[in-house]
Amino acid sequence: MTNCRICNAPLNEFIDFGRMPIANGFLAPEQTDSEYFFGLRVGFCAACNMVQLIEQPERERMFNENYAYFSSISVRMEQHFKAFADMVLRDYLGGDPFVVELGSNDGIMLHNFVDAGIRHLGVEPSQNVAEAARSRGVNTICSFFDEALAGEIKAQNGPADAILAANVMCHIPYLHSVAAGMKSLLKPEGVVIFEDPYLGDIIENTAYDQIYDEHVFYFSVSSVACLFEQHGMEVVDVLPQHTHGGSMRYVIAQKGKRAVSPAVAEQKRKEARLGLDRLETFHRFRSEVEASRDALKAVLQGLKAEGRRVVGYGATSKSTTVTVYCGITPELVEFISDTTPSKQGKLSPGAHIPVRPYADFAAAPPDVALLFAWNHGEEIMEKEAAFRREGGKWLRYVPKVEIL
Ligand code: SAH
Ligand code: TYD
Repeated sequence: MTNCRICNAPLNEFIDFGRMPIANGFLAPEQTDSEYFFGLRVGFCAACNMVQLIEQPERERMFNENYAYFSSISVRMEQHFKAFADMVLRDYLGGDPFVVELGSNDGIMLHNFVDAGIRHLGVEPSQNVAEAARSRGVNTICSFFDEALAGEIKAQNGPADAILAANVMCHIPYLHSVAAGMKSLLKPEGVVIFEDPYLGDIIENTAYDQIYDEHVFYFSVSSVACLFEQHGMEVVDVLPQHTHGGSMRYVIAQKGKRAVSPAVAEQKRKEARLGLDRLETFHRFRSEVEASRDALKAVLQGLKAEGRRVVGYGATSKSTTVTVYCGITPELVEFISDTTPSKQGKLSPGAHIPVRPYADFAAAPPDVALLFAWNHGEEIMEKEAAFRREGGKWLRYVPKVEIL
């Protein structure tokens, strides 16, 4: 029995996806023999409502100089982080402001603070993306954020007005160290603002592909509140976001320093209505995941029987869970098209489907495109209007398996 990383109560395992590789571990054909696998299993803590992986690979296996995800590949995400930065610049900075970001990646958020002339520091352990940020003028240290590093940052720069984090808090198993570090690094009136895929959306949309090695936690407002309460901080606002198929932005402050928005209690009530505090909800989710897997496999096998060409669109980390769990092989999906140069020419983790540049998709569009990057669906559908006009079909599986 494993215990909750947040409150130490026993975890209730509710789904086992089997052996999984590193989701962003795109590999060369000669590397397939030594591919690493671990058991992807998820548990629910009935005491603090935190949903979390039972086992997570060690961090250096996932975050290193070959990290495959460059945030700035998406135009919409650039716009999203500009709006995020504008909100911080407008509402949350005091005198001689200093902003810290965890998981700053290629600088997609912080370059907005460079442009505004604000003192800033990105903390980014994956060296290749950290380099990309530096080359855009973003101050970046290549380290993992934790309590010790927070102390060093404060000693060198003074306290922070705002500590930001997008799609990274849910990656960090040692959140108590992170929260303690945030508390000591923050000015008395400072704020932590972070966002991650939201458990409510994952459950409602059967978006099981959000579950993979990097995502050790699946947050709700009630579970996030439980973490920060243990460190003398509180959630003062929550703002739902459309990104990554439904995310939640949390504003955290030192306890008693800022007014708490009614949105916090309202969202907690909504979570209770959704059953995010009950194990049976997660057992139902498992049944829905299994049905989704069977439906997707059946559609792909049907398309193959009809002799149709199917190509994947977007070699996302999420697609690793889908392809491996559903048994999607190169016989069913010819290749995956992706615009990220470092993924091209490689094989997808586990399923070993070739990843090819977008030019290959454009040169010979398939009959059906399997939308692995469904979270960028709007942006992609707009770009690919001609594919549809010329008879191409989209196959998606979130929120349900359907051909569009
Ligand atoms: N914020 C970006 C990147 C998200 S990907 C965006 O939303 O697009 C997660 C990033 O967090 C990766 O670049 C990874 O290297 C980094 N990361 C992982 N663990 C970390 C830690 N302990 N401290 C800081 N960054 C971390
Ligand atoms: P994303 O869904 O953002 O993340 P994750 O890896 O966390 O699941 O990844 C999007 C992937 O899709 C990325 O590898 C780039 C690719 N992509 C395209 O190939 N074309 C596009 O138009 C877009 C928006 C993304």
